[in-house]
Amino acid sequence: MKVAIIGQGYVGLTISAFASTYFDVVGFDSSQKIVDQLNLGISHIEGVESRVLKKLIDNGRYKATTSASEISDCEIVVVAVPTPLNSERNPDLTFINSACRTIGQNLMKPALIINESTSFPGTLRNYIKPQIEKYSSALVEHMYAISPERVDPGRTDFNQKNTPRLYAGLTKEASDRTRDFYSKFCDNLVEVSSPEVAEAAKLFENTFRQVNIALVNEFAQITHALGISVYETLDAANTKPYGFMKFTPSAGVGGHCIPVDPTYLATVAEEHGAPATFIRRANEVNLEMSRYVVTRVAADHGGNLQGKSVLVVGISYKPDVADVRETAAELVIEHLRDAGAVVIWHDDVVGEWKGEKTSPLSGADIALVVTKHSSVDSKKILASAPYVFDTTGKVPGARGF
Ligand SMILES: NC(=O)c1ccc[n+]([C@@H]2O[C@H](COP(=O)([O-])OP(=O)(O)OC[C@H]3O[C@@H](n4cnc5c(N)ncnc54)[C@H](O)[C@@H]3O)[C@@H](O)[C@H]2O)c1
Repeated sequence: MKVAIIGQGYVGLTISAFASTYFDVVGFDSSQKIVDQLNLGISHIEGVESRVLKKLIDNGRYKATTSASEISDCEIVVVAVPTPLNSERNPDLTFINSACRTIGQNLMKPALIINESTSFPGTLRNYIKPQIEKYSSALVEHMYAISPERVDPGRTDFNQKNTPRLYAGLTKEASDRTRDFYSKFCDNLVEVSSPEVAEAAKLFENTFRQVNIALVNEFAQITHALGISVYETLDAANTKPYGFMKFTPSAGVGGHCIPVDPTYLATVAEEHGAPATFIRRANEVNLEMSRYVVTRVAADHGGNLQGKSVLVVGISYKPDVADVRETAAELVIEHLRDAGAVVIWHDDVVGEWKGEKTSPLSGADIALVVTKHSSVDSKKILASAPYVFDTTGKVPGARGF
């Protein structure tokens, strides 16, 4: 069976690697640079090792391409393209639309089309299917299903095999074929009654995390005002064996999911006349954390950061990945520069970002830890500046929440 995966990023390449063990996979991506690298056996994401990719290529099971005609005879097409927010911070289905055009114009025989990209309930039924049909020149009838992706890049304990996967087709046959496809490489498949339930469940999972992160971020500000340790208080609360789940404070949330997905849910809620005040407020609290952190650092310096050299330690959105999408470090740096600080950053995992290169972990007036990669030694962070503020709770001896 020949399978096309549209989008070869974190989600698409991960699925490609698992599926290539059982199927012939064409990894279609609009970026020539990514495709060229992949065909050389060089992986650009955590979780897919280059040597695994190289083996799949050598065995003829995987090939990356920018040529859309190569998907023409595929029996299964998986969509894994970005679903970001636009400049007004509203859902942006531009990439989904162009993936639909690619599929509609090039897929020449009836296939099962599965969407893995995260979007609001109704996207598969009311957007993807009509768009593909609109672009389709061939008289073919495809089947449609959703199976929202739950991959957590960099995580080793849960992967495609042991993470339960939700799925639902627009028809029973589409559901059954979706189960057959994923059951080759996923142990636990959970069918739900409609694509809308699967789409909504995915958004709610990430909204659950967003509001709990916002809650603990607000709590960190409360405990500071009360003069008690947020970490000790959270550990104390966490001794309750039921009804509590521990989240820890941070400089904000980043990545493709937590800062984005809840807005998809809030938008569709408001379009249907349902309030999403809680979700909107959680988003605000998380965005405001970067300013709060800078205010705390400034307060420890007489309220003035003018001319101070500040080293931001860790700029990816979470430890041990190079992903900088929506990273809280960006807002932290912006607020520091607005306050007159001279900002550089250290992150050897990211290396280069926005035309700037990683700086040595030393020599600043102030070090502000946003993300702590496991490869970065806490003692070296502590020695990098006379004043260190840690937002991660992982640098013993530093100032923090
Ligand atoms: N990254 C995660 O941890 C994660 C987890 C669960 C779900 N998701 C969701 O999965 C989807 C994909 O996210 P990602 O992290 O893999 O994104 P990504 O940016 O890592 O990868 C997307 C890839 O799609 C390519 N692309 C864009 N438009 C294209 C098109 N029209 N045709 C072909 N290729 C195209 C890009 O070049 C890029 O390589 C999003 O909806 C995201 O919300 C992501």
